[in-house]
Amino acid sequence: MNKFFLTTPIYYPNARPHVGSAYTTIVCDVIARYKRMCGYDVAFLTGTDEHGEKLQRAAESAGMLPGEFVAEKRELFKGLWRTLGISEYRFVHTSQNPAHRASVQWMIRQAYKAGYIEKKKYEGRYCVSDERYISDGAEPANCDVCGRPAELISEENYFFKLSAFQEPLLAHYAEHPEFVQPDYRRNEVVSFVKGGLRDISVSRKRIKWGIPWPGDEEQVVYVWYDALTSYLTGIDFEGDRRSEDFDKYWPADVHMIGKDIIRFHAVYWPAFLMAAGLPLPKTIFAHGWIYYEQDKMSKSKGNVVYPEPIVAALDSFGAPGNDALRYYLLREAPFGQDTSFSYEGLIQRYNSDLANGLGNLASRVLAMVQQYFEGCVPQPSPGHVDSPANTLRSVARPNIWAVAGNQEAREPGQYNDLKFSDAAQTIWRLISHVDTYLVQRKPWALAKNPDQKQELADVLYDACEALRVILVLAHPVMPNATAQIWAKMGQKTLLGEQQIDCLDWGQLAPGTALGPLVGVFPRLERATALAKLDEFAEADRNRDKPKEAQKSVETNKTPESAPAAAPETRVPSPESRTSVPESRVTNPEPSKISIEDFVKVEMRSGEVKAAERVPGANKLLKLMVDIGAEVRQVVAGIAEYYEPEKLVGMKVVVVTNLQPRKLRGVESNGMIVAASVEPEGRPVLVTFKEDVPNGTRLK
Ligand code: MSP
Repeated sequence: MNKFFLTTPIYYPNARPHVGSAYTTIVCDVIARYKRMCGYDVAFLTGTDEHGEKLQRAAESAGMLPGEFVAEKRELFKGLWRTLGISEYRFVHTSQNPAHRASVQWMIRQAYKAGYIEKKKYEGRYCVSDERYISDGAEPANCDVCGRPAELISEENYFFKLSAFQEPLLAHYAEHPEFVQPDYRRNEVVSFVKGGLRDISVSRKRIKWGIPWPGDEEQVVYVWYDALTSYLTGIDFEGDRRSEDFDKYWPADVHMIGKDIIRFHAVYWPAFLMAAGLPLPKTIFAHGWIYYEQDKMSKSKGNVVYPEPIVAALDSFGAPGNDALRYYLLREAPFGQDTSFSYEGLIQRYNSDLANGLGNLASRVLAMVQQYFEGCVPQPSPGHVDSPANTLRSVARPNIWAVAGNQEAREPGQYNDLKFSDAAQTIWRLISHVDTYLVQRKPWALAKNPDQKQELADVLYDACEALRVILVLAHPVMPNATAQIWAKMGQKTLLGEQQIDCLDWGQLAPGTALGPLVGVFPRLERATALAKLDEFAEADRNRDKPKEAQKSVETNKTPESAPAAAPETRVPSPESRTSVPESRVTNPEPSKISIEDFVKVEMRSGEVKAAERVPGANKLLKLMVDIGAEVRQVVAGIAEYYEPEKLVGMKVVVVTNLQPRKLRGVESNGMIVAASVEPEGRPVLVTFKEDVPNGTRLK
């Protein structure tokens, strides 16, 4: 099986992730899903970049130890990935991680042994926010990345001889034009390197929150050396101790990053790898930024957009909020370029493409099959499906190849070329072809004449087949909604397991019985939806405030009660901890929750596919539950009351957005909902009286 290794940058957990930080992860998820659907063994890595002065200061102002602070914030990222439907990923974090420490120290030792590191005195301007040395000497200077004034520092540091890599790097860019993408970014990098490379300081004396420099405990490793090495740790690299996964997955196929961090990835990282004698990644792709209504998002301007309230607001209308957001972000601009986020644009795109486009097509076609063929995909006339005269077939096939690639012609498709907006446009062109086809062939008129029953069957078979093809093609971008419609089409296989690069016309089995019909993309009334988005965003902002305030109050009271972890420094700055008026931190009605709180709990219908006892645990069963978009492993404490064999096939309710946790060493990724019957708390599993497709949300 071919492997594919792709990474997001590892995020600074100094604040909660916003739409901009979610963007790279969504993009990588689309690629990971697409590659899996092409049969690749995919390793998809993301994580958090937890060391350095920026984090140390953020923890200080929150009145926390850096280790506690980053561990708490790390969870916000994982929570958001769940909300956004991010599929199976590996998560690497850089602090309190012995394997990562070993990797980083190994990288340094290799470079040192090869003569690329030396100790020198440094005096100059340094940007704390970007962790960058800006200029030598005391002259005031601003950071060339963020524009903020750089601080004057003076210390004795270890330097990496980046200058020695100028020629090797230029040679690599020339021999491997795919190394930096898009081309215009490669040109920027090449001209930067041609301009001359200065040696860079790769250790810090003033900072304690970092990985100790091997052999010199007074210094810590420069945070970018540390962070970039996480791409190795994330696939179980541990310096001298190599792992199977490292041998299998390295070098990375794609490091997906934002344009602001291209130099670190396209200049520093390959130089660090060359110095350690390791192969270089294949491609570094730098995408553009998401702006808010043309403006850069910034906390101080108060225009930062967070994904959670958007998803919850759309969910509250019965729309799949996460898919809608994913689709909007990928559809709006050609991938690579900057794009602007607006609530107005989101609603417009949702209504035009999802409610009126895919949603309307799916409900019309399936309702007609229900009405005219008793809910079973009709049998087309002999020879019809593959006939060159079949209009939809002749439109659909080139569109399939354009999106997913053509194996025979060895042409990569738009997904493979990371042209997500083009892929969406191709798919939606196909949707509008099907709409036009239905208008021309008028199945509702054919249905009135029994002599035209076979023609009606041909038309509706084609429409169903087109819908099936569209769902497979759109799945990487909108995994949840497509899986729901897939279930309504009566498909029993998992949509994510369809072989997208072998997709062709005519693979739908006639006679397939449809599942129950329910609308997926309700149309949104513009003003109401905008008001709801505002309301949820406001509630989200307000919820954050008291929490932050509460934290300062608590930490102010008991700073010593926090557990001390070995490599961390305590942060003695009580003056930075502000006390907060009582009224801001108390919840007026602690026993009631708002609807926004309730919609945070994602419960879905599922079907138990397999069940077995957890060895050595009397009370635990390990269940594999099909929740529509995926099969989840859930561990439930019901072994004393349920025989595993009897559970297979049972419909259950799963809480799908809980943090995964391990029970007796077995990962549980969700919770099965059960009544707890007194007096002994006997669990009685919740199930359904009527048939409900797997993955249906409970509200
Ligand atoms: N920790 C470093 C990366 C180390 S990788 C070895 C870092 N972290 S970050 O949290 O500041 O940024 C992470 C990613 O989010 C970057 O790729 C950055 O470009 C991206 N984005 C942050 N804001 C963004 C937008 N508004 N729009 C799109 N992406 C943006 O840099």
